[in-house]
Amino acid sequence: MPQRDHSETDVLPPCGRPTVRRGRPRAEAAVAAERVVAAGGRRATVGVVLGTGMGGLVERLADAWTMPGVETGWLARSTATGHAGRIASGTVDGVPVVMLQGRVHGYEGFPPEMLTRGVELLAALGVRRLLVTNASGGLRPTMTSGELVILSDHIDLVRKPWGDALEPCPAAAGDIHAACYDPALGERAFVAARRAGVIARRGVYAFLSGPSYETRAEYRMLRRIEADVVGMSTVPEIVAAGRLGLEVVACSVVTNVARPDAPEHTDAEDVCRLAADAADGVWAILRELVQDAGPPAAPAAND
Ligand code: HPA
Repeated sequence: MPQRDHSETDVLPPCGRPTVRRGRPRAEAAVAAERVVAAGGRRATVGVVLGTGMGGLVERLADAWTMPGVETGWLARSTATGHAGRIASGTVDGVPVVMLQGRVHGYEGFPPEMLTRGVELLAALGVRRLLVTNASGGLRPTMTSGELVILSDHIDLVRKPWGDALEPCPAAAGDIHAACYDPALGERAFVAARRAGVIARRGVYAFLSGPSYETRAEYRMLRRIEADVVGMSTVPEIVAAGRLGLEVVACSVVTNVARPDAPEHTDAEDVCRLAADAADGVWAILRELVQDAGPPAAPAAND
């Protein structure tokens, strides 16, 4: 598969967005990447952001290495349940992979520029292909807890300038918001999950700021605007990854199904437990994505 280059302006393949202004990770991300490598972490082509409850996937890496994210001098400490805040690397089927075990969220008080730091660090470590995972509320009545939704697009109901901290300059007014979910890779992820015996479908993610789960009226509204799942993360990372030119697959684990007329209690502990139970499907997707990922991107000239 041809690798995308990392030029600043590019015409991107068929995912509904003609042109985006390309960006690079900030210089501090490159310094943090050097720190990771000096401490024993690997450069890798494939990166993973492990969302709520999915941190256990680090234990499936061969030759696993981890370090606290804050020791990179670049990543912030997460305060959310189920987000360990470590960076990990190792191999999957012999292919180097780097993982962020947890993320930070806007509802923890972090500004937009901090929500994209993890993805910038992954790109600075050579990542070209990114798997972003999260826990979400399912909005279709036919959904069941534990199923996977491979995102085909998102509805950003928070709408902040997510990719603007990247070098060299902010997106201009009128730029296409760089949500790019690689359709061919998404299809492969979907097939891989189903092959692993996991219930999976394609769908649209609605991004709300949280931190509380939605009201019944909000769940009804989200169904009307044709969202399939709802959550409080991921979109800032996807937008930044799009501007960094990464191939992106995003996978949501449905941890509760919104039935506005028969509401059930959901708490963060349930969400973590159900997300952890979905690890086999996410792992099957990752094994599919490492297959033809190619070598890591070379460090940028300003690194
Ligand atoms: N809403 C928002 N975020 C979530 C939910 C939800 O119902 N479940 C897991 N993350």
